[in-house]
Amino acid sequence: MKILVTGGAGFIGSMFVRLVLDRYSDDSVTTLDLLTYAGNPANLLDVQGDPRHRFVHGDIADAALVDELVAESDAIVNFAAETHVDRSLLDPSAFIRSNVHGVYVLLDAARRHGRRMVQVSTDEVYGDIPEGSFSKEVDALLPRSPYAAAKAGGELFCRSSFVSFNVDVLITRGANTIGPRQYPEKVVPLFVTNALRGEPLPVYGDGLQVRDWLHVEDHAAAINRVLRGGRAGEIYNIGADNERPNIEVVRALLAHLDRPESLIAFVPDRPGHDRRYALDWRKIRDELGWEPRRSFDRTLFDTIDWYVTNDDWWRAIRDGSDTFSNYYQRQYGWRLAAAGRDGETVTTS
Ligand code: DAU
Repeated sequence: MKILVTGGAGFIGSMFVRLVLDRYSDDSVTTLDLLTYAGNPANLLDVQGDPRHRFVHGDIADAALVDELVAESDAIVNFAAETHVDRSLLDPSAFIRSNVHGVYVLLDAARRHGRRMVQVSTDEVYGDIPEGSFSKEVDALLPRSPYAAAKAGGELFCRSSFVSFNVDVLITRGANTIGPRQYPEKVVPLFVTNALRGEPLPVYGDGLQVRDWLHVEDHAAAINRVLRGGRAGEIYNIGADNERPNIEVVRALLAHLDRPESLIAFVPDRPGHDRRYALDWRKIRDELGWEPRRSFDRTLFDTIDWYVTNDDWWRAIRDGSDTFSNYYQRQYGWRLAAAGRDGETVTTS
């Protein structure tokens, strides 16, 4: 199969590219990626010399380019997206362009060429989930952040393309994913790298928000199952039953790194912060036989160890350009000041 992987230089996309090339010797992959701040050529270094992989620098909203690439492919898996909730609160416009309009452009090409498309979405489209309940694929979409609203918008175009035009499109809704090569604005890589630098770990609010933690290799394997065995027009939740409050994750992270809990800084909360996400993912397990392979501890500790070992990868981002530092200052400067922790660098070892 020839697969067009959009957003393939990102965190989950690059893991998926690697999985396909490793497992399917008859498959080939074209990665289309705009290399905005989170898309990183370094994420694909190990497949660079593979004759079954081709990299194209470009935009999913570029209809002519997308049409050409879709015509040459058998299927599309769309990872391209703006993904960070905090950035969507600062400026939602890029989210509408990638997560809604970009999805529409891909769907339009999939329709013209009769191709299968997997749209990689998120559990955030369900919104805040009350204690004890678990979101099912048939539940209402109740997004609460601009990011989640844009992802829900993209999903609705998928649904309408399936109903109106019979496009062979499927949707996956993944839980909080961690692992190698995640841009260090997300909580786990941010906190691991802050801890290694002896800087405060800015926990939003009371830190009792709950997320379900999924390893990126498990997530990529689930998307692969959906691509190869899923039913057209269907939605598949991808969870791990690893529900933990943030503060518990932060304490486990510090203990694993042997860093002090005094690094924790409780800072003003994210506006509209969803208290809990939790997925019922029995559908993908029962229909497609997928299950996560890692426990919570392995998911978290393997992730932490990767950042410890791959210092060069994250230092190039954190110290190598203004993009990260400008964002960090805007997002955390006033929060750390409000918590009385600004300008703090602690020697921890
Ligand atoms: O649930 C799936 C989603 O998981 C994906 O769709 C998103 O693309 C991905 O960013 C992630 O969203 P979250 O908002 O849950 O992830 P984030 O890493 O930003 O935050 C995880 C939790 O940690 C959340 O409750 C907010 C909290 N947090 C986050 C940051 C960055 C903090 O307490 N402090 C922080 O500095």
